[in-house]
Amino acid sequence: MKLHPACAHLQPLLGKWRGEGSGDYPGIEPFTYSEEVTFGHVGKPFLSYSQRTRGADGLPLHAECGYWRPVPGVSEVERGVEVLIIQPSGIFELLTGALTLTHFGFVSTLSALKVIGAPTARRVDATERRVSVDGDVLRCEVSMAATGHPMSAHVEATLLRFA
Ligand code: HEM
Repeated sequence: MKLHPACAHLQPLLGKWRGEGSGDYPGIEPFTYSEEVTFGHVGKPFLSYSQRTRGADGLPLHAECGYWRPVPGVSEVERGVEVLIIQPSGIFELLTGALTLTHFGFVSTLSALKVIGAPTARRVDATERRVSVDGDVLRCEVSMAATGHPMSAHVEATLLRFA
């Protein structure tokens, strides 16, 4: 199926990615995890996104899914994006940000316009994400202000495209 032209600058994300990550946060034990991510499209002006992780013990850990929506950019190399992400832990993030095109992909810096937590979810006040693609390498970093702590790094992972 033909990619919607509005998604041209998101095209480097398309496919399946696998890799390793590590996490930390004030008050929790540092941890490592493996991660699998899929970006797909149906010819409409958005990409679908799904992520699954497993802890060092091989058991399912964090998971999330959502959509990446392209936003017209201000120049040939500066584009925008809106990202909606939902987690089974009861947290929903609406992030917006800039996307700077590079030779083999892009670098995007996203910050949450809104984080909504279900009544029983742990408290998350704000999140920031950095996602970059360089050819077949995807890097993802998440920081958050959560459970009463200021904005601090939580997870980072490096994934390789396998399909
Ligand atoms: C690769 C992605 C992620 C992994 C593997 C991961 C894993 C973990 C682990 C192992 C913990 C500590 C154990 C626990 O409290 O459950 C934790 C805590 C937490 N995570 Fe994540 N996480 C990820 C992404 C996120 C994201 C995107 C958010 C929010 C937007 C988030 C919010 C939290 C919160 C609020 C805590 C509790 C912190 C505290 O108790 O002070 N996590 N995460």
